[in-house]
Amino acid sequence: MRAVILCAGEGTRMRPLTYSKAKHLIPIANKPVIDLILQAIKDGGIREIGIVVSPGTKASFKSYLRDGSRYDLDLSYIVQQKPKGLAHAVQCAQGFVGSESFLLYLGDNLLENGVRGLVKQFRQGDSHAVISLVEVDNPRSFGVAWLKNGEIKKVVEKPDDPSTNLAVIGTYVFDYHIFAAIEKISPSKRGELEITDAIQQLIDDGYRVVPHRVTGWWKDVGTPMDMIDANQLLLDAMIPETRMKSGISLQVKGKIAQNENARVRDSKLIGPVIMGENVVIEGSVIGPYVSIGDGVIIKNSKIENSIILEKAVITDAKSIDRSLIGRYAELRVMGDSSSRFLLGDHSQVLKGSSECC
Ligand code: G1P
Repeated sequence: MRAVILCAGEGTRMRPLTYSKAKHLIPIANKPVIDLILQAIKDGGIREIGIVVSPGTKASFKSYLRDGSRYDLDLSYIVQQKPKGLAHAVQCAQGFVGSESFLLYLGDNLLENGVRGLVKQFRQGDSHAVISLVEVDNPRSFGVAWLKNGEIKKVVEKPDDPSTNLAVIGTYVFDYHIFAAIEKISPSKRGELEITDAIQQLIDDGYRVVPHRVTGWWKDVGTPMDMIDANQLLLDAMIPETRMKSGISLQVKGKIAQNENARVRDSKLIGPVIMGENVVIEGSVIGPYVSIGDGVIIKNSKIENSIILEKAVITDAKSIDRSLIGRYAELRVMGDSSSRFLLGDHSQVLKGSSECC
């Protein structure tokens, strides 16, 4: 079985960060989302993976992931020229998949328990498709499924008035019949070929489509706040690589994963916190739930529930909460009130500073 990961979305809800990087390459708990997905697929027993990218992001995916040998995976890149919908993206991958069954993974979904159970269920069953479902509070925001006698009988994309709360999430296994179903559907109201409509077509054509009930947490990381929430979930599950000890000028509580060359002094760390290489922290209170990328410098600041990307510099920020700070960003804010920031790469916030640029 092969896998197809859809990563061609423009990431408009993640701007400004996605102006300089595809959202799938942004790290959560110091690991790019795509790394977490590749690991989950590998754990599901699949090694040949096609990544559907946009013409604008292909180069950045390729330069980061290359041929996949570093992960012991075989990666191919498939370009979706225009954002014409998820089913269209699947159609673009038809040449890669051939007549094999395949795992379809939407590149902004993270699952606590990965895709092992889904793949196993398809392999052991006799269906033409297995669709992952999760009960949600807001079914209007998703594809929604209706079941009968252990099979999926109806799916509707973002219904106005759903009578069920079973959401179709972003992991599915299909056999080759899905391609004929996609041929038959037309663009939806939003002008896209919907994967939900292709699944309904499969059902209408008499093929057996069955549900897979997801266990553990599931997170769609389409917005910065989703990323902050996923950061909490991943840090909670983190096994610390090294444990820091409290010292004369350092207080440590909870799980801290840090690189040995981190320089932390006169500070308080409240785990879980993860730190990359060459991090400098002075006179600060960090945590809980903070991910700090390589080369970040934090001085005289207090930060919780946040993701700080590579080489950002934060000084005198008295209370940062639920923030996502881009690479090489510079943040210097005097004042005591709690603040939330969403800063793109290389941005500057120098409030209260007398310096000018
Ligand atoms: C897509 C699918 C939808 C599914 C959702 C899961 O929606 O079309 O059926 O429930 O992913 O994340 P989108 O996020 O593209 O609006």
